[in-house]
Amino acid sequence: MAEIIIGTGAAVPDYVLDNDGVAEMVETDDAWIRERTGILQRHIAKEETADSLAEEAACRAMADAGIAPERIDLIVVATTTARVRMPCVACRVQEKIGAKQAVCFDLNAACTGFVLAYQTATAYLKAGIYRTALVIGSDCMSQVIDWGDRSTCILFGDGAGAAVLQRHPGLDYLPVAGADGGKGEVLSCQALYERQSFCKESGKSGFLHMDGQAVFKFAVRKVPEAILEVLELNGLTIEDIDWFVVHQANRRIIESVARHLGVSLERFPVNLQEYGNTSAASIPILLDEMKHSGQLKKGQRLVIAGFGAGLTWGASILDYEH
Ligand code: UT7
Repeated sequence: MAEIIIGTGAAVPDYVLDNDGVAEMVETDDAWIRERTGILQRHIAKEETADSLAEEAACRAMADAGIAPERIDLIVVATTTARVRMPCVACRVQEKIGAKQAVCFDLNAACTGFVLAYQTATAYLKAGIYRTALVIGSDCMSQVIDWGDRSTCILFGDGAGAAVLQRHPGLDYLPVAGADGGKGEVLSCQALYERQSFCKESGKSGFLHMDGQAVFKFAVRKVPEAILEVLELNGLTIEDIDWFVVHQANRRIIESVARHLGVSLERFPVNLQEYGNTSAASIPILLDEMKHSGQLKKGQRLVIAGFGAGLTWGASILDYEH
């Protein structure tokens, strides 16, 4: 048994902040941000939340899949920026779409979140436990960004993406994933209750902290490794893959991964110029765009690959059949 994506959806906040807008807040400029990251603008939540964006993306994915909400057995939401600690975002989505039968939970694996949520859902499907799953990546990174820190505030944006998966007879692929908890400090963010108590002393806790170069080096080494590993595990080669859908963090990271693999950059779709790094949402937003623009065609095979805080990483292969 394999699984297929039968519907996708995405949602981003209305407000757009371009690089000139960021340059009004910190000492930076459009040319530096473009050259070092490839990012031109990002969508920033004013009214929206990670919860509301997840709901909107889920509704669109359900409409795209064209199935009744009662048929959803499982909802997994990858997020690190939920508005409340409990109940989980997945339960809010369940209520919103009317998926009364669904088992619901959230998963925290930062920017690798969607890949791990996808792997979790497909494991349930492959085991025959559930038949239809809704997998969502949703983050409002703007809430945890220090807008006075130019090394991080230029990178991130807000958004959500969702995919409806269904069990399907066909090729079955094994996933690859891993973590290095010893490297947690290179990309971290204190929880809000710590932020409140620490704030008086440092004024900085509660915000995302990042050693950008360390994350960059990790990504350009680990992502190609994970892609080659998942291909080998499944008896495939680079030539068997149509699209490499990699977490959208920095254009230079994507270019380096393509170079390492000896693959033309044209097989690496990129949309970070419009959204920045939307963390757990970047891969499903890109999948949704590829689907609706007609770039993704029936019978094509994809690799999705993510990396992020933890440090964590993961890669999966999927056939696009819908
Ligand atoms: O989902 C995972 C999330 N994180 C990532 O993927 C982050 C990966 N890392 C990166 O994308 C890059 O490391 C950054 C974009 C964050 C930074 O780019 P970089 O090429 O690694 O720059 P750098 O930190 O080595 O800084 C180079 C110079 C420094 O100045 P000096 O010391 O050479 O005079 C920085 O102070 O650029 C300066 N700088 C800036 N200048 C203008 C750093 N940030 C900025 C800025 N605008 N925003």
